[in-house]
Amino acid sequence: MARAKITSVRGVKDILPEESPRWQRVEALARETFARYGYSEIRVPIFERTELFARSIGEETDIVNKEMYTFDDKGGESLTLRPEATASMCRAYVQHALYSQPGVAKLFCIGPMFRYERPQAGRLRQFHQIDAEAFGSEDPSVDAEVIVMLADFLSAAGLKDLSLQVNNLGDAECRPAYSRALKEYLREAAQGLGPEVKERAGRNPLRFLDSKDPDHQAIIARAPTIDRYWNPACRAHLDAVCDRLKGAGIRYEVNPRLVRGLDYYCLTVFEVTSSHLGAQNAVCGGGRYDGLVEELGGPPTPAIGFAIGMERLLQLTGGDSGESAGPPAALDAFIVPLGGIAAAEAFALAGELRRGGLRVDLSFGGGSMKSQMRRAGRSGARFVLVLGDDEIAKGTVTLRDMRESRQEELPRAEILSKLSSGV
Ligand code: HAM
Repeated sequence: MARAKITSVRGVKDILPEESPRWQRVEALARETFARYGYSEIRVPIFERTELFARSIGEETDIVNKEMYTFDDKGGESLTLRPEATASMCRAYVQHALYSQPGVAKLFCIGPMFRYERPQAGRLRQFHQIDAEAFGSEDPSVDAEVIVMLADFLSAAGLKDLSLQVNNLGDAECRPAYSRALKEYLREAAQGLGPEVKERAGRNPLRFLDSKDPDHQAIIARAPTIDRYWNPACRAHLDAVCDRLKGAGIRYEVNPRLVRGLDYYCLTVFEVTSSHLGAQNAVCGGGRYDGLVEELGGPPTPAIGFAIGMERLLQLTGGDSGESAGPPAALDAFIVPLGGIAAAEAFALAGELRRGGLRVDLSFGGGSMKSQMRRAGRSGARFVLVLGDDEIAKGTVTLRDMRESRQEELPRAEILSKLSSGV
């Protein structure tokens, strides 16, 4: 009896061979673009101690509260599959004392993230991010540079019709006053809402502004906004960022209602959205987190960064950007052995040609000339090398050019140079 199939977990996708080239191109483009701005790649682990994310992202956030893949390992330690990379990059920055190097430490990381969210179009449980972080400067020019680099990359990837929203979430001085005012407003305005919503709005009033619930929108629209609470330093920081963005020709909109789903942010936050994505329209989110490195045991270190959702980005580069999906590069040659001795010879010949730099495959499992030639045809290789008893006895190979439909017999020693010349 046939066994039942095992499929992948809900919200978790395979990236198939025909899709991989597009992923590789986008990753290569990120590496190229970020290198021009002085960024180096860091690869942080897929799982960390749970406490890292709880302390960084915030106990009251949806990510930590509801969406983490957390488990005890066999030693009883609580571990979590990373829901994002910023916390891990800060941990690595502190652990390896990367702050002891002079200047701004610019790092990027590419890889899978895990969130137990309700899967829907554009929302997965395993998704991928391209994440860039700059540690060690509070200069608003760094904020602007990070955003310019992001815009540079998104435009090189062929994305159009994007909108960039920027806000300033205040600092340790002005944010508490705003938070209090918002809390007071919500205490009144949220009277009619359920006890759970009211309780959450009380604990984390800023997060309420991010609610997508239609019933909350009128309340959000009338809520006090942070801009009235900015102290001169925060206002000046935002003005400087905006000045540099204007200078760089970047279009943006200041949205004083923009908040983010993670608690570590202060000052500058930003989001890039696309009108072509539907409900899950954020391609990228980021901002400053000047207190996080210290929170994780490092020295006071201002920092800022962003993360791009790769699936959403690839969805936007789908059709018309010249990024057509296709199979991996075609084979140069396919070898067809006829008979048992020829199989061993074919195996050796494939090795020689591959070491010579050619892309080569061969027919396994024997079969008639006809069935093996069918295999050769399906391989997409331009040249088919036929090796039978005759050829082995003479030290030759029959070379069939599938494009020109002609064949010739060549000394085996000449095959590599013949194929390398491509004729
Ligand atoms: P985030 O806004 O949570 O920020 O995620 C960044 C991007 O990841 C989103 O804009 C979206 O494109 C993508 N994304 C998030 N969740 C999903 C999902 N379930 N399925 C598909 N795509 C998703 C962060 O993660 C911060 N660490 C960004 C950051 C870096 N801030 C400072 N540095």
